[in-house]
Amino acid sequence: MKTVRINAGAPYDVLVGSGLLDRAGALIQKTVAPCRTVLVTDSNVAPLYAAKVEKSMAAAGYTVTRHVFPAGEPSKNMETLTGILTALADAGLTRSDLVVALGGGVTGDMTGLAASLYLRGVRYVQLPTTLLAAVDSSVGGKTAIDFAGRKNIVGAFYQPVQVLCDTDTFGTLTPEIYRDGLSESIKYGVICDASLFCRFEAAAVPDIEEIVTRCVEIKGDIVAQDEHDTGLRQLLNFGHTPGHAIEACSKYGISHGHAVAIGMLLMARAATAAGICEDDTAVRLEAVLQKAGLPTAAAYSPAELTAAALADKKRKGDSITLVVPKRMGECVLHAVPVTALESFFAQGMEERA
Ligand code: GLY
Repeated sequence: MKTVRINAGAPYDVLVGSGLLDRAGALIQKTVAPCRTVLVTDSNVAPLYAAKVEKSMAAAGYTVTRHVFPAGEPSKNMETLTGILTALADAGLTRSDLVVALGGGVTGDMTGLAASLYLRGVRYVQLPTTLLAAVDSSVGGKTAIDFAGRKNIVGAFYQPVQVLCDTDTFGTLTPEIYRDGLSESIKYGVICDASLFCRFEAAAVPDIEEIVTRCVEIKGDIVAQDEHDTGLRQLLNFGHTPGHAIEACSKYGISHGHAVAIGMLLMARAATAAGICEDDTAVRLEAVLQKAGLPTAAAYSPAELTAAALADKKRKGDSITLVVPKRMGECVLHAVPVTALESFFAQGMEERA
């Protein structure tokens, strides 16, 4: 088992390893003394892991109430949030009690938001069960629901008190959902760790405990410097501006990690064409994405992607800040006038000889 300390808010640990859900009670006890607890999970994850967590927590002395909501992004809304808040109130949780989020990004984001609101803040623990949640959403304290047709626009920065990432849970993911997490893991190599990227190039199957640990370390370093996403943290959005646009154009038929994979390659190619990226980053990235079984292109025009990107929340006035690679392991923020975005995207989508 590996431990990564996250120095954001009140510092907390992310534990990464095999068999952690069986030991959840004993591990959480090191951070939060046994108390009343609501375990929030979704209808896919509950039959797989909820009983295991409850048994372990009960053995450590916690009183656990389970709250299950329907799985899927459409549940990430005010109604489900209200359901979670109602469960916390019905269980009689006080400020000294605990909420536990068991599941992927939707569960973690909504449960974290409910924990931030209930009694103006009650402690919560993240138990991510997808690779994507392990390397990204469970760490760093971004919580949210979708609202008014837009993703993640109602939320708060609210850090968990502990994250237990049981790598055994990845064994029950579909290949597509697993690849979503691989895409975000590869992203960390491109933005700031060339040696992490080399592991994906070198290994037939990378050691997932090592990969998750390194990704969490990188995310922790960035979040410690920019918890509230005013500058440096935006590097984590590499590939996300075109990626979100691709998700939207596909009416969310293309999943997040797959869209980000396409978006990362588009940005690397555009940065190379613009003379910002000085080496063979795009060529290496394409090879690693293909090896991971991720897509490298989508059938949308630069105009379609630009329209979707400009409808996204990250636009500021007349320019949009993009994350572009300078070389493998180093990305920078690059402001592009809104009027130049379409041609920038087009450069990243031109057929290569
Ligand atoms: N998922 C990007 C961030 O946490 O900032």
